[in-house]
Amino acid sequence: MNILILGSGGREHALSWKISQSSHCDRLFIAPGNGGTSAHGTNIDVQVGDFNGIAKSIKEYSIRMVVVGPEVPLVNGLKEYLQSSLETIPIFVGPGKSGAILEGSKAYSKEFMKKYNVPTAAYGTFSKKTLSEAKAFLKTMDAPYVLKADGLAAGKGVLIIDQLAEAEAALDEMFSGKFGDASSTVVIEEFLDGIEFSVFTLIDGKNYVILPEAKDYKRIGEGDTGLNTGGMGAISPVPFVDDTLMDQVKQHIIEPTIRGIETEQLDYRGFIFFGLIKVGDTVKVIEYNCRLGDPETEAIIPRITSDLVPILASLGDQSLDQHSLQISENICSTVMMVSGGYPEAYEKGKNITIDGQDGDLLFHAGTIESDENIVTNGGRVLSASALSHDIQSALDKSYDLVNRVSFDQKNFRTDIGKDLLAL
Ligand code: AMP
Ligand code: GLY
Repeated sequence: MNILILGSGGREHALSWKISQSSHCDRLFIAPGNGGTSAHGTNIDVQVGDFNGIAKSIKEYSIRMVVVGPEVPLVNGLKEYLQSSLETIPIFVGPGKSGAILEGSKAYSKEFMKKYNVPTAAYGTFSKKTLSEAKAFLKTMDAPYVLKADGLAAGKGVLIIDQLAEAEAALDEMFSGKFGDASSTVVIEEFLDGIEFSVFTLIDGKNYVILPEAKDYKRIGEGDTGLNTGGMGAISPVPFVDDTLMDQVKQHIIEPTIRGIETEQLDYRGFIFFGLIKVGDTVKVIEYNCRLGDPETEAIIPRITSDLVPILASLGDQSLDQHSLQISENICSTVMMVSGGYPEAYEKGKNITIDGQDGDLLFHAGTIESDENIVTNGGRVLSASALSHDIQSALDKSYDLVNRVSFDQKNFRTDIGKDLLAL
């Protein structure tokens, strides 16, 4: 079948690399793709927000399966748009609008978790009209104060603030449009102190399979300091996630979530990424995402040894229970190289040179082809993944690959995975 992947990051390059290896994939298209995805398929110059352009490409290239990378088109109802505008609907890997709300509205997802007994931080939901209740609620919480814009805010909508007066001021700013409409509703949450990790599942609405779990490194600076980024690296598997912990995640988090999806009749056939935190011996949900993580995908996809295409295709007729996922026991590390200045202002268009070898898992994120060259085209530029039998040797291979890539003002963290070596 012909397959279309939507997106342009490292996640989509890793998915293209994997899906293009399937004997079930005839032609692979990526919209818009990047300087790396073109090695595995055909990049189409259509942006993920251009629903009409996507529908036209599906017809033109006889696409039978669409795999959606980022959350925004899902939250904005791409699935419904295609259902209403196409005669032949391809298998769609991603939730409809009603399912994507689990990521699209923090207020909804917290209420959902409460209703289905999914463990999560205590919280309250407020709007400008209930500002005085919001401030009174803040006073009942202990520092640090966690304020979350309800809607999508490009990963910037969560504020963690130490002082009460500052948290009150931030609340005023959020209600005055700091994140536009996204913060017209704000969730105030109890701060959870623990270790975060991410569990990924694929669900067909009734059945699920668990993909490899991962830990990502969100801050720009060494030792988890400085500004938040989209992610500077990831490791899979996570050493502290043993069978007992994973059983707890299944029983208390994944299964009640799927029961909730069924009961609420949410349209959900796609990936769910559970952002989790281990607090003592218990696990709580920090957030749901309606997609795979980036750069976690660059660390989990190389560990999947099964052909992904039949598994993804089973979402079409909800037969995921007839499939299983084979996962390598090897460790996969990925180290992100970013443009100098990121996550603040940075320059684009820098020439990239790669001293590559066969078998390198170098996933492009913000790159683009320009004449004969590949140049930087985003904050996160390339992710160096490597598989090995232990964390240290996987990291050695990732960093060797990082050192074989050059571009002006290349920046990366040298401490990805170091915390896990000590466990
Ligand atoms: P979110 O967008 O909800 O994942 O939040 C972004 C990041 O903020 C998370 O990955 C955590 O590092 C942090 N965070 C969010 N909620 C909490 C919380 N209740 N307690 C502690 N940290 C949190
Ligand atoms: N790396 C975190 C995310 O994709 O949201």
